[in-house]
Amino acid sequence: MGRVIAGRLSDFAPGSITKVAVDGRDVAVVNVDGTCYAIDDTCTHAGASLSEGTVSGCNVVCGWHGAQFDCTTGRLAKFPATIRDLASYPVSIEDGNLYVEVS
Ligand code: FES
Repeated sequence: MGRVIAGRLSDFAPGSITKVAVDGRDVAVVNVDGTCYAIDDTCTHAGASLSEGTVSGCNVVCGWHGAQFDCTTGRLAKFPATIRDLASYPVSIEDGNLYVEVS
């Protein structure tokens, strides 16, 4: 699909997780200290929306059962069981717009 505008950079405040629709999939844009990352929004444990979770350092913490995913890679960072990593997507900023690249 390529590069898709997810919104204005100013829409994504530091420390926030925002769900956006990109090419028919739910993506969570995570702003960590001013740098934005994009990962799948759906937790691979039981399907919670990660945009309803919280940010802890570089990790997104799922609001349902506490799984933590590294938002820079989508990899599972902490959980007592083995669950799948999340897909992560390249983010770029141009003219104040935030783009997410999906394939
Ligand atoms: S649904 Fe995310 S940890 Fe269970």
